[in-house]
Order: sequence, then structure tokens, then C-alpha cells
Amino acid sequence: MNAPVALITGGGSGIGLAVAEHLINQYGWRVAIVDIDAARAAQEAARISPHNCLGLHADVTDYAQQSRAFLQAFEWGGNRLDLVFLNAGIGDTDSMYKDFAIDERTSLPHPVDLRVLDVNLNAVIQGVHLARHFFSEKNNTKGGGIVITSSVLGLYPSHAIPLYSASKHGIVGLVRSCAPVYLKDKITINSLNPMLVHTNLMPEPMSSEFHTPEQTTPMSTVLTAFDAIIADDKLTGQTMELAMDEVIFKQQPDYSHPNIKSVLGQWGMWERVAEPLLPRRPGENAEEVKLPAKLVIKAGVQS
Ligand SMILES: NC(=O)c1ccc[n+]([C@@H]2O[C@H](COP(=O)([O-])OP(=O)(O)OC[C@H]3O[C@@H](n4cnc5c(N)ncnc54)[C@H](O)[C@@H]3O)[C@@H](O)[C@H]2O)c1
Repeated sequence: MNAPVALITGGGSGIGLAVAEHLINQYGWRVAIVDIDAARAAQEAARISPHNCLGLHADVTDYAQQSRAFLQAFEWGGNRLDLVFLNAGIGDTDSMYKDFAIDERTSLPHPVDLRVLDVNLNAVIQGVHLARHFFSEKNNTKGGGIVITSSVLGLYPSHAIPLYSASKHGIVGLVRSCAPVYLKDKITINSLNPMLVHTNLMPEPMSSEFHTPEQTTPMSTVLTAFDAIIADDKLTGQTMELAMDEVIFKQQPDYSHPNIKSVLGQWGMWERVAEPLLPRRPGENAEEVKLPAKLVIKAGVQS
């Protein structure tokens, strides 16, 4: 029961499933795959390893269901949780360009269907909140790793699917903002920002209409990025752009004005305003750790 334990949302298919198999087969970890499709999660867990893989049902947008899955995974893993991969995601759920329907009573459009933000961003925020709790309050060995699947559309705009792009940009902001504080509690947080990967979300027949086979990212690049995260338990705050066979550590934009840098690029607002509001200072019992400076990995080799 001493093997590290991971929880993966959206683990029943695609990227989440590939990472689950990688962690079990290459690293000997135990993995709970959490999915809204209960039958698929159970079936894949049984196929991969009845002992080392657990299929759990949860709709991550329901906090009670997501938190129950965390507790089930933690207890199944022998009261430990080492890595949480918040990966469940869906495509755009509405249009920002034209009204699909008008409310006859008011002659105004119905509200925008924000399910894509509920799954891709709001549920991820709740997942980060739960992971931090388990890592800092429940784990015997304090700390752990959070990885979130954003997208290249979290770094660049998408005219075709703006709501999806907004949800994935939100993850980038969350990762970059929380990372230095979480590190005080030995918690790392990073995002994967893949370019097209063939999965159920992006099946070949649909995607080949707008890109060539060379413009897809193989699953091996996703696994290379994961290897880099596992190899360095202080790697944090990184948005890892996955483009074909490259893992690119995308840096935040430069501050455009010295005053913006002097206000936002320092710790004053955190130390004087935000931290004193907390019931306990992060890292009170954790040893001091320094942020890493890493740039590019290519073809599976970290430089
Ligand atoms: N495939 C790509 O090209 C690509 C590119 C960039 C980012 N992503 C992101 O990668 C992540 C994984 O997607 P994928 O491509 O592997 O697709 P996928 O459809 O194969 O897998 C997504 C999984 O999430 C599950 N899921 C959906 N809503 C859920 C919910 N409410 N609760 C729990 N589980 C839920 C689905 O059942 C499915 O098993 C997503 O966040 C997606 O936005 C994918």
C-alpha cells in the first residue's frame, strides 16, 4: 500500500486514461480514475489493473460528488494522495455570436449556456481547493502535485470556440497566481496546454477537416510532460505548451509598464493584504523552497 496515489478526473478516456496507464505501468503508482461515465471508468480500471486502478463515478460540477471521489480515492490509496490531475473537460456549449433562441415572454435572448465553464473551470477550481486540503491537511507526508489540463486555447484566442478558450485561459491565471503560495505548503501546480491530441473530444474525422496529421500532438508528448513533472517535485507555476513533439515552458507575458511590474510583480499585496486574512499562514511548518527556472524539453529529454 506504499505506492504513490493519483486521482485523475476525466480519467475514463483520452488524455486522462493515457496518463493513468502511464503512471501505473511506468511508475508503479495506484490511480483512481474519476469520470461522469461510470461504466467506462469501471471498465477501464478493470482492464488496466483491478488492484492498482479504481474506477469512480462523479460529475465534477457537483461538489458533493467530486469531494466524495477525493475521499474514496484517498482511503483506497491507504490514506495518501500524491497527485491530482484535473483533466475532465468538454467543448463549447453555446455561441457568443448569434442568438439560438429568444425568450418569448421578454423578447430577450436566453442566458448563455455556461456548462463549458462549469466543467472546464469552476469544477477545476473546486478540485484545486480539494487537492490543497488533502495535501496539506490529510496526507501524512504533507504536500503533493496538482496538474490541470488547459489547452493551447488557454494561451491563444479561438474565434471558433471563445467560451472554451475563456475557460482554459482561467486555468492559466489560476496556476500562475497560486503556485508560489502553494509551494510554501510543498504543493506544486502546473498546467498542460496541448495542441490537438486525438481523443474522443477531438476525433480524427472531425479534426482532419482543419489541420494536417503533422499538426497534431501525439499522446507521447503529454506523457513526456508528465515525466518532467514527476521528476521534479519543485517544478511549479508552469504552463506547459504541448506542440507536436515539444514541451515548451510558456512564460507569462512581460509587464508592459514599470508601475504595473512594481505593483503586481512583488509580494506586498500578498503579505500585507491577503495573507493576514488567513486562519493559518501557508508553509508554517514547511521548509523553505525556491522556485525553479526551467525552459524547454524536446523529444522526451529534459534540458
Ligand atoms: N484532445 C485535444 O485536442 C485537447 C487539446 C487541448 C486540451 N484538451 C483538454 O484535455 C482534457 C481531456 O480531454 P480529452 O481530449 O482527453 O477528451 P475525452 O473526451 O477523451 O476525455 C474527457 C473525459 O472527461 C469526462 N468528463 C466530461 N465531463 C465530465 C464531468 N462533468 N465530470 C467528470 N468527467 C467528465 C468525459 O466523460 C471523458 O471521459 C479536456 O480538459 C480537454 O479540454 C484536449
